[in-house]
Amino acid sequence: LARGVGSADLAGRHVLVSAGGTREYLDPVRFLGNRSSGLQGYALARAAAARGARVTLVAANVTLPDPAGVRVVRVETTNELREAVLAAAPEADAVVMAAAPADFRPTTTSEAKIKKASDGSAPAVHLEQNPDILAEISHERHRDDQVVVGFAAETGDDTGSVLELGRAKLARKGCDLLVVNDVSGGAVFGAEDNAAVILSASGDAVEVERASKTTVAHAIWDQVVRRFVM
Ligand code: CTP
Ligand code: CA
Repeated sequence: LARGVGSADLAGRHVLVSAGGTREYLDPVRFLGNRSSGLQGYALARAAAARGARVTLVAANVTLPDPAGVRVVRVETTNELREAVLAAAPEADAVVMAAAPADFRPTTTSEAKIKKASDGSAPAVHLEQNPDILAEISHERHRDDQVVVGFAAETGDDTGSVLELGRAKLARKGCDLLVVNDVSGGAVFGAEDNAAVILSASGDAVEVERASKTTVAHAIWDQVVRRFVM
């Protein structure tokens, strides 16, 4: 079981957590988005506050109530998420990117609502890549002792298993820890529980058996706290 439950081992620490899924607008009423509920990120924020941390939670389109005692910054798009995370990161002892940023955004957003053409045709949607926030904060550390945590939901494919893809992603992003969810058996979106393997840049793999998102959150903070004292 998670060791830090009921302790104040994050007292005096400031942690930054992102949660939810970003939206990229095609016009004032339509967007590209994803199914992230924000539950795991909110569980991380609540668990950190319970362990004594000062918590900043950057929430992208989450409909859950604000956790008590947590500063919540609301954003919609990946660029807004990036601005809010970069603004808070210099003060943070740990940054946990539990949010699901949209990887792409429309190259243009129409100021007026896009209307249907009478000839039955559909408009083409052109996309461009969004910035990679996790890679950016990992590569521009403000402090040597800042712990940066990413998440990855993987299914595995013909290029590698879930854990192989997780290892490659950890190296590519440059974060300290990567929480890997195996989603090959079906979606975890909106589920009350979660299972994960926490990979570290130093080569460890800590398995977290299927449990509530609160328990998974505490297991993640356990690994973060270990890196503070190391
Ligand atoms: N992430 C981010 N900025 C992005 C995309 C992802 O900070 N533009 C973060 C997520 O919050 C997560 C981690 O990177 O912590 C991994 O997200 P994932 O979508 O798995 O990574 P991608 O690099 O987008 O890879 P993929 O092509 O598999 O989607
Ligand atoms: Ca992605």
